[in-house]
Amino acid sequence: MIKIAPSILSANFAYLGEEIRDVEQGGADYIHVDVMDGHFVPNITIGPLVVEAIRPVTKLPLDVHLMIEQPDRYIPAFAKAGADYLSVHVEACPHLHRTIHLIKEHGVKAGVVLNPHTPVEMIQHIIADVDLVLLMTVNPGFGGQKFIPSVLPKIRQVAEFIKERNLSVEIEVDGGINAETARLCVEAGANVLVAGSAIYNEQDRAAAIRALRGSYKA
Ligand code: DX5
Ligand code: ZN
Repeated sequence: MIKIAPSILSANFAYLGEEIRDVEQGGADYIHVDVMDGHFVPNITIGPLVVEAIRPVTKLPLDVHLMIEQPDRYIPAFAKAGADYLSVHVEACPHLHRTIHLIKEHGVKAGVVLNPHTPVEMIQHIIADVDLVLLMTVNPGFGGQKFIPSVLPKIRQVAEFIKERNLSVEIEVDGGINAETARLCVEAGANVLVAGSAIYNEQDRAAAIRALRGSYKA
């Protein structure tokens, strides 16, 4: 089953609750929340306060993508705020094993994220400990960027790692996902598709979600 995770980064923040209800009714599976600190990435977004505020608005899992330095400092606050998944970047975590286990100790599913250029080998000794691998298909920081196709072989490689080790780990892709690129990612082995502008820039969000699903069923 392929899951669709609309990224609220492209939503209208003045009406965030309604924007989340809209995609939930439109058939979304997760709500993707992009946290940026202005250090790890050149943009600043939201913190635990907003996660806490949106928690009662939806029954869907909150898939929180931490694009921040020193994530260990904030994991307890995001867990308390109601995150269901917390994903951290390999590039921001010198003690990745400790960070992943800190997330799990808080009863939250743990994800590890790779930037487009970061080799998949970086996670071979942590993949058995995580619930999700997120492969960035753009350089993180902004919505509406162009998909980087050189990530496709990395999706296949992560799928192979998971199969070889007989694990149950989700493979998520994030950045530039539309009907065309969604199909390529699903064919390569991704099973969670983050989409910001492809969903929120459309008036009819249910139709946008259907268009994504239709692309890989065909
Ligand atoms: C990028 C974020 C993405 C972003 C995706 O740094 O991690 O989640 O919202 O936006 P689109 O789908 O527009 O590329
Ligand atoms: Zn994201």
